[in-house]
Amino acid sequence: MMTSRTTIFDLQKRKRQGKKIAMVTAYDATFARIVEEAGLDVMLVGDSLGVVVQGKEDTLSVTMEEMLYHTRIVASAAKKSLVIADMPFLSYQGTIEDAVCNAGRFLQVGAAAVKLEGSIVVLDRITAMVEFGIPVMAHIGMTPQSVHQLGGYRVQAKAQSGVERLIEDGKAVEAAGAFAVVLEAVTAEAAKEVTAAVSIPTIGIGAGSACDGQVLVLYDLLGLFDVFVPKFVKQYAHLKTASVKALRQFRRDVETGKFPSSRESYD
Ligand code: KIV
Repeated sequence: MMTSRTTIFDLQKRKRQGKKIAMVTAYDATFARIVEEAGLDVMLVGDSLGVVVQGKEDTLSVTMEEMLYHTRIVASAAKKSLVIADMPFLSYQGTIEDAVCNAGRFLQVGAAAVKLEGSIVVLDRITAMVEFGIPVMAHIGMTPQSVHQLGGYRVQAKAQSGVERLIEDGKAVEAAGAFAVVLEAVTAEAAKEVTAAVSIPTIGIGAGSACDGQVLVLYDLLGLFDVFVPKFVKQYAHLKTASVKALRQFRRDVETGKFPSSRESYD
């Protein structure tokens, strides 16, 4: 039986009911299916794919076409989940019209919402997108697309003034129409105060336990990506180690003639 697809209103209901929201990134169809099989129903096609899939140092060079490609394949495999697409750098910083059109392209390939980084400077874009029927998840705190302006991937909202600014940012994106907000790399206390101050769900990544939900990059969570492992990552598996082990075994089996055996051969 086909269960209905998760919507932005389901997430808002979970906040009201005090039920935590678990979200992960997904970049391809195979993992989208695995994520759903595990019972998760919110997927972000994150521009983190620039780092974990493309091997870049940051997310800045990820393009609209690349994000559309990954969104299309995730959305076609995800049958029940809310699929959210990350808007890449420079896809929403131009005119409001261009930002809305770029956001709309993600809905055309199967996403149900978009995510964009920033607060005051993107409020007009959030409002315009929502008015045109495009749900928006905001992303404040440490915003990776501003890595150079921030001087690195640094924890935000450490001082009281930063906490107050973060609360104002959270309230502002809610007032602009965002249905949820990601809080990245901020102190646990700051995230707790934002979560209490807004009625939309807060989804934390490196933001402590008080948020309404948590998101992790799939490759971090599964231990596939270990070029750098931030403090906030918990590796629930060690798939890189398991993969290297399996591949070594395959290489040995081929070299020694153990693979293929008659079981893997046609009569
Ligand atoms: O790009 C991404 O994966 C993200 C999450 C880490 C929030 O923005």
